Amino acid sequence: MTILGIETSCDETSVAIVRGGDELLSNVVASSMDAHIKYGGIVPEVAARAQSEYMIPVLENSLKQAGCEWSDIDAIAVTYGPGLGGSLLVGVMTAKTLGQMHKKPLIPVNHVQAHMAVNLLTKTALDLKLPNDPPDFPALCLIVSGGHSQIVCYESPIDYKILGQTRDDAVGEAFDKVAKILGVPYPGGPSVSKLAKQGDPSAYSLPKSRLQSPYDFSFSGLKTAVLRLAQKETGKDHSFPSFELASHLSDKQKADIAASFQYTAIETLLDKLTHAEEEINPKSIIITGGVSANKYLRTRAYELFGSKLHSTDPKLSTDNGAMIASLGYQIYKNNRQVSNYESLHIEPSLQM
Ligand code: KG4
Ligand code: ZN
Repeated sequence: MTILGIETSCDETSVAIVRGGDELLSNVVASSMDAHIKYGGIVPEVAARAQSEYMIPVLENSLKQAGCEWSDIDAIAVTYGPGLGGSLLVGVMTAKTLGQMHKKPLIPVNHVQAHMAVNLLTKTALDLKLPNDPPDFPALCLIVSGGHSQIVCYESPIDYKILGQTRDDAVGEAFDKVAKILGVPYPGGPSVSKLAKQGDPSAYSLPKSRLQSPYDFSFSGLKTAVLRLAQKETGKDHSFPSFELASHLSDKQKADIAASFQYTAIETLLDKLTHAEEEINPKSIIITGGVSANKYLRTRAYELFGSKLHSTDPKLSTDNGAMIASLGYQIYKNNRQVSNYESLHIEPSLQM
C-alpha cells in the first residue's frame, strides 16, 4: 500500500510518498521561511500565497522522486489541523481536488500526532539517516515544536494518551522569542543553539518552572526571565523597547544568555521526561518535533536514556510530508477515519 502525504500547516509545502508503512520513497519540502525572516515570525497570508504557488511543482517533484504514477498511489493523506487556516486550506483543497481527479480516498491527519508517526519510517534511498527499527511500544514520546510541548504515552502506531503538556508557550516558541531578544534571526531554535555553542550555560541561573502536575510544562516564565536578564545586563528597564536590547549586549553576553536559556529549557524538558520514564517504564523513548533537531537535547537525551532512545534524522524533526504519509498509512491500514470529499474540513485549533 502506497500513501501520498501533503503537509501545509505552517510555512512548509511538502509532499511525500510512503510505501508499506516503513519505506519513504520521496519527501519534497519547499519553505517560504526567507519571506518571513524580515518580519521575525510567520505572516499567514504570505505563507498561504507561497503554498498555492509551490504546491503543484512540489507534488510533481515528489511523484518523480518516488518514481510513482498516480496508479501506484492508494490514498491521499493530508494535514487538516492544527495550523494556520489559509495554509491548511491550500493542502486540504489540493487533496480534495486530487482525490476526485484520481479517484483516491482521503485520510485526514492530525499534524501533532504525525510528529510521532514519522518515527515509524525505517527505510529510504533518500539522503536521510533513519533508525534501523521502529520504536518498541509502548513508547514515551516527547513532542516539542513551535506550537506544542507534550509528553505522550505512544501505545501503538495510532493510539496514544497525553500525559502532560505546556500550560502556556511551547518550547519552540520560547526559543523564537529569546532569539528576538538576542537579535538573531527567526526561526529562533537554530539561531539560539548556534549562539549557545560559544556561550557558558552556567553563566546565568534561570528559573525552571515548578508546576504541581508532574508532566506539565510552562515556558512563559523562562522567556520573561531572559527578558529581565537582558534588561539588567544592559541597564535598561521595561520602558526600553525589547527588540533594541540586543544592540546593547556584547557578543559574550548574548552567547552566555543563549547557552543559559538553552540549558534551562532543555533540562526542564528532560527532568519531566526522566520522571515519566521512571513511572511508566516504557520500552522506548522518542523525541520528535522541530525542537528535537536541537543537538544539545539529542546529546543529553542519549546520555540519559542510551539505547532506549529513538530519534529519526533531524531533517524529519521539522515539518514535512513524510510524517503525514506515515500516519496516513497507519490510519488507512487500520480502517480509521477515512473521509469523503464533503466531510473533510480544516480544523486550525485541532487538539491531539
Ligand atoms: O515542528 P516544527 O517544524 O513546526 C511546528 O509544528 O511548530 O517546529 C518548529 C520549531 C520552531 O519554533 C523552531 O525554532 C524550532 O522548532 N527548532 C529548534 C531547532 N530547529 C527548529 N529549536 C531548538 N533547536 C533547534 N535546532
Ligand atoms: Zn510541526
